[in-house]
Amino acid sequence: MLRTTCCLITGANRGIGLEFVRQIINLNPKPINVIATCRNPDKAEELRKLKSSSTNLHIVQLDVRDFPNYDKFYSQVNSIVGSNGLDLLINNAGIAQFKTLNQVTPTDMLESYEVNTVAPLLLTKTFLPLLKSSGKDEGSTKLIVNMGTTVASIEQNNQGGMYPYRASKVALNMISRSVATDLAKEGILCVSINPGWVKTDMGGKKAPMAVDQSVTKMLKTLSLVDKNSNGKMINFDGKIIPW
Ligand SMILES: NC(=O)c1ccc[n+]([C@@H]2O[C@H](COP(=O)([O-])OP(=O)(O)OC[C@H]3O[C@@H](n4cnc5c(N)ncnc54)[C@H](OP(=O)(O)O)[C@@H]3O)[C@@H](O)[C@H]2O)c1
Repeated sequence: MLRTTCCLITGANRGIGLEFVRQIINLNPKPINVIATCRNPDKAEELRKLKSSSTNLHIVQLDVRDFPNYDKFYSQVNSIVGSNGLDLLINNAGIAQFKTLNQVTPTDMLESYEVNTVAPLLLTKTFLPLLKSSGKDEGSTKLIVNMGTTVASIEQNNQGGMYPYRASKVALNMISRSVATDLAKEGILCVSINPGWVKTDMGGKKAPMAVDQSVTKMLKTLSLVDKNSNGKMINFDGKIIPW
């Protein structure tokens, strides 16, 4: 199973992000610090409930579009993790605007890019010093995880539509690839991972996979990421998804 000493997960108040937190705080060995970020900690009841029984869980407020406050956010995280740094960054927060060609607006496109593309890139940039300084714990890998989706596969797109979501996640894949290439020499890996079609607010009730099942499978797959899968879009079950 995946090993992490200190990790950070965005969009952790519901859906896949919340389940990542639920499973990661109880990994064996237990991580020292799990930082769960969300826009409204006061309203994040399930996350706060988890925190009441988990000494390694910290909740930090973050709207990922709040770029001017990233420096302040870095300081908050740095004061929690200290010299342990961060060995796992999960860029999970995302929005899905399934707009058709007739419906799509500039605002839809720009919002999707800000949340799904620009934020993961700039959070990676912001936390690079902490990712570099981590890794004293033998056996732990340094990993950046961007949440991908099969609908961002250009090759598999036979249905069209979903312009903001598809395009912003395709761009995220390119970021994963460049980050993986740029940081390989630092021993930091980066992948896009598709969680499957999952029962969350975004995935909807018809989705075939429960959120706990998806996250368990992703954690197993992420534990196996190596230089061969670095920079790729991988499925929750470990298969490589064509670009
Ligand atoms: N569910 C699926 O079937 C599926 C399939 C493929 C990929 N994914 C990807 O998996 C990730 C999680 O999806 P999900 O199904 O868990 O979605 P979800 O249930 O809709 O949850 C989305 C999360 O992102 C957060 N978020 C949205 N905008 C934000 C912002 N500006 N700042 C901070 N947080 C923000 C939300 O916070 P608020 O509560 O504050 O809105 C929420 O915590 C996404 O990146 C998605 O694209 C999901």
